[in-house]
Formats: sequence, C-alpha cells, structure tokens
Amino acid sequence: MSVELEPPGARDSTWWLTVLRRRALKMAREPTAAELPPPRFTDETERRAAVAFFNAAFRAEESGLRQAHELAHEAGTWDPALGEMLRLYGNEEGWHRELLEEFLARIGGGVTPMGRVTRALYRAYACAERMETIVLTNLMFETIGATTYRMALRNVREPAVRRMLTILTRDESFHVPLNVHFLRAVLARRPNALGRARLVYRLAFVGLVLLPLASRPKARAFDRIGTRELARAYARELAGLFDDHPELGFTPPWLVLKLLGVKEARTSGQSPTSLAAAERAAEREHVVVEEA
Ligand SMILES: [Fe+2]
Ligand SMILES: [Fe+2]
Repeated sequence: MSVELEPPGARDSTWWLTVLRRRALKMAREPTAAELPPPRFTDETERRAAVAFFNAAFRAEESGLRQAHELAHEAGTWDPALGEMLRLYGNEEGWHRELLEEFLARIGGGVTPMGRVTRALYRAYACAERMETIVLTNLMFETIGATTYRMALRNVREPAVRRMLTILTRDESFHVPLNVHFLRAVLARRPNALGRARLVYRLAFVGLVLLPLASRPKARAFDRIGTRELARAYARELAGLFDDHPELGFTPPWLVLKLLGVKEARTSGQSPTSLAAAERAAEREHVVVEEA
C-alpha cells in the first residue's frame, strides 16, 4: 500500500516486522507455565470450568498457528516481509499453545476433544480458502479471544491463573491490530475482494456474538462473565475493529448492536484491541501482572 494511502495512526510493515523480530528474541526468556505456582480453585465446579475455558483458548491458539503458517508460505511468495511477519506471528500462537498445554496439565485437565459447537465452528473456518477470508476470520477470532481474556482477568483472583491470563491478554492486544495490518496488506493486493470481505465480516459478526450461548454454560463458573455481558462486549469490540481504518468500509450489523443495546464503538484508540493498545503491549516486559 502506498504511503499516501496510509491513514493517520497506521503503522507500516517495517514497524510490525521490527517489533515481531524483537518479540521473537524475547519469547525464549519468558517463563513457562510449569514455573507458575499450582493454581487453587474454590471447588471442583470452578476447576472444571477453568479446564473448559483454557481448552477453548488452546483450540483458538492451535487454529491461529496453523492458519498463520499456511498463509506465511503463500504470502511469502509475493511479499517476503509479510511472509516473515505471518510466520513470527504464528510462532507466538504456537508458544501460547504450548503454554496452555502445560497449564491445562497443571490444573488437572489436559487437552480434551472439542465440543459440538466448537468443532462445527472450526470446520466452517477450515473451509475458507480465500486469503482475505482466512485473515479476516482469524482477526475476528483474535478479537473475541482478547475480549474474553481481558474480561476474565477482571473477575479471576487466583494469582497463577492471573499470570496466565495476563500473558494472553497482553499478546492478543498486540495480535488484533497486527491482523488488521495483514488484512490491509492482502486487500491491497486484491482490492476486488473487499466487497466479499465486508459481507464475511457481517456474517461472522452475527455468528461470534451468539457464541457466548454455547460457551457460558461450560466456563461461567470460572470466569464469572454473563452471557449478555459477553455478547455485548464481543459486539462492541468487533464493531470497533476498523475504527483506525474507516477507508475499508467495514460496517457492523447495526441491528445486532441495537438488539444488544450497544450504542456505538468507542473513539479510535480507546479500544483495548486498537493500534494504540498494540503499541502499549508491543514490549512484553513493560506489561506487568496487576494484583487482583
Ligand atoms: Fe494467542
Ligand atoms: Fe493471537
């Protein structure tokens, strides 16, 4: 994309690549989940709900890793820098997946087979073939993941679990605008795909906002987030995804926002998944675990 088309607040590929390379070097020095103190849960119901919560997270990381590395290969043939960014981003998801696998073993759960809704969701996602559809859908999954982690962090008091949630929240805050950057790069190469991408955005929006209906019965005893509360938060964050890029013309389904009582997305830069938030989260060591 040419420099003059860069909207205010946009970061170019060089910035993202530099930050991703720096993060990759530091990733090796991050603590592993095995080093965390063993988490304690109030009762068996809460522990089981935590296992369900972190299993959903594990599946999301696994999917992000696979898609990113597949796209890295394809994108690398026409833009080596974009290919490298996708590979480094995929590696971060791979690291999250490892962390979650260790953490699940630590809370006595392990990785369990996917439930019906989750399986159907990832099957539908796996059918996506066009690059812009894959990047956009992944971006939307990242957004709801970041939102769920952040909200759970507000409610959970257990120190080891908070450490885990902080790592995930911090990195997903960085990944969301990074994926907006990927999407813009893909759409710049295939501008004719924009109309279709806008339609995918609106359809996926509706599907993802309904997801709390399936996730709440399993995870609520752990994260204490209500169904409507989570659906509203998903809608607000998904609606604000392209605040920094109005030129793309992604408009949310207003009827869904109205039904949920979501008035409007917040001002650009205020969203926890905005570019401004990514800049704050870019340097991992500057993000600390706040006491509950
Ligand atoms: Fe992740
Ligand atoms: Fe991510």
